Amino acid sequence: TLRGVVAVDGPSGTGKSTTARGLAVRLGARYLDTGAMYRAVTLAVLRAGVPVDVAATVSDGHDDVAAVALGARLEVSTDPAEPRVRLDGEDVGAEIRGSEVTAAVSAVSALTAVRRHLVDEQRRIVRAALDDGTGIVVEGRDIGTVVVPDADLKIFLTASELVRAGRRDAENTAAGRETRPDTRADIARRDRLDSSRAASPLRPADDAVEVDTSTLDIDGVLARLQDLAEDRG
Ligand code: C5P
Repeated sequence: TLRGVVAVDGPSGTGKSTTARGLAVRLGARYLDTGAMYRAVTLAVLRAGVPVDVAATVSDGHDDVAAVALGARLEVSTDPAEPRVRLDGEDVGAEIRGSEVTAAVSAVSALTAVRRHLVDEQRRIVRAALDDGTGIVVEGRDIGTVVVPDADLKIFLTASELVRAGRRDAENTAAGRETRPDTRADIARRDRLDSSRAASPLRPADDAVEVDTSTLDIDGVLARLQDLAEDRG
C-alpha cells in the first residue's frame, strides 16, 4: 500500500488515466484525475454561453471565462473504483469527454486564475487523503512540477504522436463516441497549447522518471509503474 503521493504527468494518449487509476487500485490508494477538473470547469464555461477562443494560450484576461470557471461547484470522488466528477450536483463524467469540451479545455486551462483555483482545490484533496492515512495517485500535466512538487514518485509518460492518436480513436470507439477524422491533429494542437502556455507548461519535473509507452500495453505500463512505486515505497 502507498501512503504518499505518486504524480503521473504526460500528454494525452499515453494511457495516463487508465494506468494511473489502475496503479491506485493496485496500491490501495486514492486517485485524482485533475484533467477531469479542468474539463468540468470548461463545460461550465460552455454551458454559460461564454465564448472561448480555442486557439488562445493567453494566461490572463478573459475574466468572463475565469469568473464562470471559479464559480463552478465541483465535487470530485477519489475512489479509483468509481472516479466521479459532479458539476453543480450533476454527474458530468461522460459529457466532459465530448469533442466540444476537448476543443476548448486547453484554452480555459491556460488561464492563471483558473489554474490557481484548481491547484488549490487539488492540494486540498491530496491533503485530505494523506490526513486519512491513505496514499494518492494524482494524474495531470503539472502534478510533479507545480501541484505536488514533493511527491514521493514522479512519473512522466510519453508515446509517439501516432500511437497516441490511435489510442484516442480506440478509446472513443469503445465509449460509443464518434472517432474524429483529425484526432492526430487535435492531439498535436493540444500538446502545442499545453507545452507553450506561460502558466505551468507541460514538462517533466527534473526528478521525474520518464516511461515511453509506445511499445507497451496497459499491463506492461502498470507493471513498470508498480515496480517504481514499490522501489520508492
Ligand atoms: O488529461 P486530459 O486530457 O483529460 O486533460 C484535458 C486538458 O486539461 C489538457 O489538455 C490540459 O489542457 C488540461 N490540464 C491541465 N493541467 C492538468 C490536467 C489537465 O492543464 N493538470
